[in-house]
Amino acid sequence: MSADTSPMNAAAPAPLAVQVPALQTPALPAPALQAPPLPVPGPLGPTGRPVPDLPEPTAVRQHGPASVLAICNQKGGVGKTTTTINLGAALAETGRRVLLVDVDPQGALSVGLGINSNTLDVTLHDLLLGTGGTPASEVVVKTRVPGLDLLPSNIDLSAAEVLLVGEVGREHALARALRPLVPEYDVVLIDCQPSLGLLTVNALSAADGVLIPLECEYFALRGVALLLQTIEKVADRLNPRLELVGILATMHDGRTLHGREVLDRVLEAFPDKLFHTVISRTIRFPETTAAGEPITSYASTSAGAGAYRAVARELLARWPAAAGASSASSASSTGGSDGADGADDAGGR
Ligand SMILES: Nc1ncnc2c1ncn2[C@@H]1O[C@H](COP(=O)(O)OP(=O)(O)O)[C@@H](O)[C@H]1O
Ligand SMILES: [Mg+2]
Repeated sequence: MSADTSPMNAAAPAPLAVQVPALQTPALPAPALQAPPLPVPGPLGPTGRPVPDLPEPTAVRQHGPASVLAICNQKGGVGKTTTTINLGAALAETGRRVLLVDVDPQGALSVGLGINSNTLDVTLHDLLLGTGGTPASEVVVKTRVPGLDLLPSNIDLSAAEVLLVGEVGREHALARALRPLVPEYDVVLIDCQPSLGLLTVNALSAADGVLIPLECEYFALRGVALLLQTIEKVADRLNPRLELVGILATMHDGRTLHGREVLDRVLEAFPDKLFHTVISRTIRFPETTAAGEPITSYASTSAGAGAYRAVARELLARWPAAAGASSASSASSTGGSDGADGADDAGGR
């Protein structure tokens, strides 16, 4: 019986022939031993993201040529007209010259600015059809807000849409009509009609960028895919300058779980494009329509006025073209770029 097989030896095995070297733990690089720095928590905005510190827009020293932004969503009642009026007024407050263009035959843009477009001799309709040779500058109406002008429309515009169908270059009629006005302004905002018809295609063909207002309700995203397809098609076939500048959540009710959930879904779908600023639902907006003036003058210190001023700051930061960093016609090859969240270039021309 060899010593190897003795139960004693089995219980207490001889020391291993191979000596395990003392554990040589490699010296860890110093930073790995330290806890990673905690992200500095910034104040979270209504979209659940830290809100960037957007600078006050700087003054504009020289005016024009304008960047053209189409406010577009084929759904009605989502806040297109309200956004056009109040964003326009907030931009005008920064010293920019702003032209609002009514491309909805309902003429709600004029009503919201206290102008009765049914009594006007000439409207956008005449410029689109080139009838009567009226110069564009004579169709423009001044509003009560300094620096904010309007190219008005009324129900005649629906006739223009029908007549344009048979025209050569029918998709470019609005771009042609706006051409003499673009050098006179810093920003042109186009209030689109609730459809993806020829008038909206004209608006997209004339624009450098698109802003989509989305009402914060359950079906907010329904139809947006079709709108994005239309924007892509227009960019591809008619207007390579066109880019999606952002999505603006409107009529938000932050007190309800539902409102919160809708905003989460929109953020999930458009993480880079959703504006940090969210427009809350408030009776103040219908009131301003009745009063015929923007909220920035009707209730200058209200939360709604502050919100649209924040939208203006965010627009100028996200879209340097509108801030004056480049002219409307040179905004071409930026297609699709988001102009990074919180971009801080809000400089004047
Ligand atoms: N944030 C808001 N809160 C409450 N009502 C609003 C808000 N924004 C717009 N409204 C109202 O909703 C209605 C539709 O808005 P509007 O801007 O005309 O939409 P669209 O132009 O997309 O059809 C109007 O009566 C307007 O006053
Ligand atoms: Mg409208």
